[in-house]
Amino acid sequence: MNKALNEKFYREYMTFFEHAEKSRRWNLFTDIDWESVKAAPKNDSLALCAETFCGVEMYLPDYVEGHLDMFKDNFARSWFAANWGYEESKHGLTLREYLVRSGHRTDEQMHAYADRILSQRWKRPFPTARQMTAYGVVQEMTTFIIYKKQQQLCEQQGQDGLAGIYKLIAKDEMAHTRYYEIILGHYFDDDREGTLKDIAEVFYNFTMPAYELVPDYDSRVEVMRTAGIDRGVFLNEVWGPVFKKLKITRHDLPRSQRVQKALGSAAPQSTAA
Ligand SMILES: [Fe+2]
Ligand SMILES: [Fe+2]
Repeated sequence: MNKALNEKFYREYMTFFEHAEKSRRWNLFTDIDWESVKAAPKNDSLALCAETFCGVEMYLPDYVEGHLDMFKDNFARSWFAANWGYEESKHGLTLREYLVRSGHRTDEQMHAYADRILSQRWKRPFPTARQMTAYGVVQEMTTFIIYKKQQQLCEQQGQDGLAGIYKLIAKDEMAHTRYYEIILGHYFDDDREGTLKDIAEVFYNFTMPAYELVPDYDSRVEVMRTAGIDRGVFLNEVWGPVFKKLKITRHDLPRSQRVQKALGSAAPQSTAA
């Protein structure tokens, strides 16, 4: 790892962490309107979505292990991974609490669900730190959009407590997106051609993490249409800002042989419902 990049990564982590500590932290026990959650009428479809997102967040041990394993020789990036893991852990935990406190699931059901989740393993989809950074930008941004859509749906359906939960989580996901975007920008300045290749690799081979691993995923697909990110949204709202930030278009991406094979699949396959 080159020294100049390393120093930039450290500076970015400190900026990220300072902002998180001063103005983004939230408390699962005191910042959520649990009374409103308990009082809201049951909504099985929103609950099934929440359970599915909760499941995706619960592959946390594999996500954290994947990151720490890749960055164990890099102070700033491994500290980011640890802090990021804390924030992601709160997402899964909060959705789990929502499902139980709202009366949609029992504690026993959630324990059984966690057992089924943790019996499967998520594997890191790309081998290098730079590719995983590009993947991080896209995955976090896609997640942000999904949670924002759920927030709006909840607001429309009078589920203000759950809407508040999604609002808090979405704020974290946007902060993660911004961090990865900045780090990717530093890689890009350091090695434009190499970074473009890595972005292309991710652009053509991206899938959302762990959705296919969530128990009974097939029976969730219909409900998950509410989280739908179609190809247009994916290109314009997820990749668009990344390209804009780097001052490139997708036509600047090189088409290696491997990339050509997957051409046309540039949408998050498991959320493209
Ligand atoms: Fe999350
Ligand atoms: Fe995130």
